[in-house]
Amino acid sequence: MKGLLLAGGHGTRLRPLTHTGNKHTIPIANKPMVLYAVENLINAGIRDITVILGPMKEGITEAIGSRYPATFHYVEQEPLGLAHAVMKAEPYLDEPFIMHLGDNLLQNGISQFLNRFNETHADAVIGVTPVKDPRQYGVVVLENGRVKKLVEKPRDPPSNLALVGVYVFTPIIHDYTRKLKPSWRGEYEITDVIQMMVDDGKRVEVVHVEGWWKDTGKPEDLLEANQLVLDGLEGTFHHDHATIQGRVQVGEGTVLKENVTIRGPVVVGRNCVIGPNVYIGPYTSIWDGCELSDVEIENSILMKEVKIRGVNARISDSILGNNVVVESKPGIPRVTRLVVGDRSKITLSSP
Ligand code: DAU
Repeated sequence: MKGLLLAGGHGTRLRPLTHTGNKHTIPIANKPMVLYAVENLINAGIRDITVILGPMKEGITEAIGSRYPATFHYVEQEPLGLAHAVMKAEPYLDEPFIMHLGDNLLQNGISQFLNRFNETHADAVIGVTPVKDPRQYGVVVLENGRVKKLVEKPRDPPSNLALVGVYVFTPIIHDYTRKLKPSWRGEYEITDVIQMMVDDGKRVEVVHVEGWWKDTGKPEDLLEANQLVLDGLEGTFHHDHATIQGRVQVGEGTVLKENVTIRGPVVVGRNCVIGPNVYIGPYTSIWDGCELSDVEIENSILMKEVKIRGVNARISDSILGNNVVVESKPGIPRVTRLVVGDRSKITLSSP
């Protein structure tokens, strides 16, 4: 079994964060998003992984690095759809493979998919889970537990079962991608390929995904994914002067100054300076090299080397890119919500 990891695409829904960096390198609980997919594949025993890179490919190969026990092949692709990625990677996909979208996080990993494939020797295995708003996903209609119909992003969803971004295929899929035409939105859709397989009588098995699943398409999805991962955080950090409550992890080289309160679940990276006068509330991830003073922050993601100083406000539900600086002038509102791309400087001031 081989792996295909999709880390291309446009990332337009995550602007401005994706103007300066790749969506897949945005950290969730201080780990670049794409590594959740890499680790799912590694934990499932996959040792040969083809990674699809799009026009904004910076940082992905570096994030993956050389520490995982697998061979990685990198293939560049214009973002013309998920099935187009399969076509580009075809030379590497000469045996059954598991395809994992690089922006999907699954609480319980992907072994459910592999187990079903090994039990059934199906031509494909797909995953579904019920969602509140199916219009933003591929939607699957089942009849007596078997796949009947798949529709990509329907205006009028025929069911509430979303297609999860993990799929197992045999090389038979290549016969179908060759016949595929672009959809109304100009993309080569993987849902159309699976529909062709179903219509042709191929065996497509379905797993009902257990545990939470998150597709991190929009900024609020990143914060939700961060909450879900931090909910599983373990941590027993203690500090002589700071007030630490709940599950908190603090990295090496990080200094806590006077009057610091951290209420978990919270993860703080390495070599940060926290304080004086800082409150860090639940569901906050602060990556390496950040400096925070005179601020309250909660339910937020800070990337590397963010500096927040003298902001006598509460920052919440915010995502701050690498090297962002936030300062304030007196008299600004007490609560602030920010989504800011890399290397920006923000000064909060009243009009
Ligand atoms: O997350 C599950 C959903 O993923 C499924 O329910 C949909 O059926 C499926 O089409 C897909 O929908 P999205 O709108 O979320 O796809 P998105 O364009 O965001 O791309 C998903 C991942 O694949 C993302 O990590 C980027 C990567 N990608 C995307 C395209 C279009 C590529 O590597 N190449 C591409 O050409």
